[in-house]
Amino acid sequence: MPHTVVSHPVVAHKLSLLRDAGTGPALFRQVVGEIATLLAYEATRDLSLSPRRIDTWAGPLDAPHCDAAQITLVPILRAGLGFLPGVQVLLPNAPVSVIGLRRDEDTLQPHAYYQRFVEDIAGRTALLIDPMLATGGSAIAAVDALKAAGAARVKAVFLVCAPEGLRALEAAHPDVETWTAAVDDRLNERGYILPGLGDAGDRIFGTPA
Ligand code: PRP
Ligand code: URA
Repeated sequence: MPHTVVSHPVVAHKLSLLRDAGTGPALFRQVVGEIATLLAYEATRDLSLSPRRIDTWAGPLDAPHCDAAQITLVPILRAGLGFLPGVQVLLPNAPVSVIGLRRDEDTLQPHAYYQRFVEDIAGRTALLIDPMLATGGSAIAAVDALKAAGAARVKAVFLVCAPEGLRALEAAHPDVETWTAAVDDRLNERGYILPGLGDAGDRIFGTPA
């Protein structure tokens, strides 16, 4: 599985803002969105273009256009919703599929509670988006569901990954390419990424940790 860590000073700076426990929900959401745009920029480098005839000041031109029919954005609820607007800055017309997964705090197993994918997912690349890859259980369950629905290809973008989660995702789905701003040190005994961001969903939605 090709795995890309997007190392750029601006991404590193913004990630530090998120790691600061004093950053409140409004700034946290804003910066998550900004990093999401930068990561999605890298993850969409191979989108295909097709020419469309336009009229320019100098006459007709066959100008390259991205085809919205080739991709669907797939945020994992709930924290993935915080990531979505930043990706939509790049791909405003890409249809959105969603999957709701909540990690059981004791077993760390994902519990699926909602799924609604675009009907024509079979021909599309699914761009899975979630701030956190911790044990990898949620991402693996989401990719399982996307493949079962017939997605042609799956790519995944995470803000922060644990090495344990990357290894698990690679073992379960070696064909899934991933992009992230950081691979952190490890998981703690409760399955949280160290140093990580804390509970990304709680920080995005301002709910008590
Ligand atoms: C978080 C996060 C991922 C998952 C990662 O969601 O957004 O989806 O945990 O953990 P894993 O790799 O060990 O599965 P959470 O289950 O806390 O739900 P939330 O987004 O509703 O807060
Ligand atoms: N979910 C989070 O939001 N943060 C972690 O560190 C692990 C899982």
